[in-house]
Amino acid sequence: MEDFYREYILDHYRNPRNRGTIEAPDITYEDSNPLCGDEIRIDLTVRDGVVDDVKFSGRGCAISQASVSMLTEMIEGMPVDEVKQITKEDVLEMLGIPLTPVRVKCALLGLKVLKGGVYGIDGAADDEDL
Ligand code: FES
Repeated sequence: MEDFYREYILDHYRNPRNRGTIEAPDITYEDSNPLCGDEIRIDLTVRDGVVDDVKFSGRGCAISQASVSMLTEMIEGMPVDEVKQITKEDVLEMLGIPLTPVRVKCALLGLKVLKGGVYGIDGAADDEDL
């Protein structure tokens, strides 16, 4: 079963979904992984409280890129209030393979950026608060 998840992660890394930027986003946020300096930016447009469009850009390892790619797929069409409820456990479950603590930081970078954006507060998404 882990093989399936590994393939799934690699597929998202090689063929990222929703990669790019939005010209006039309602929400834009970027942040980095303090351990490696990799940065991710997420742009969102919101219509009637629902995520209408989402794009991500930046750079990072396979886990961070695959994780944010999956996350963008997950939140398209989701009410922003529900996006706020996504937990780190949700993201780790979505990835589906055991990760070392360093890799967990990689996996959660996208969520940290997303939470920073939807809460609109700098630093709101400290890993401990996810
Ligand atoms: Fe930088 Fe994974 S090594 S995000």
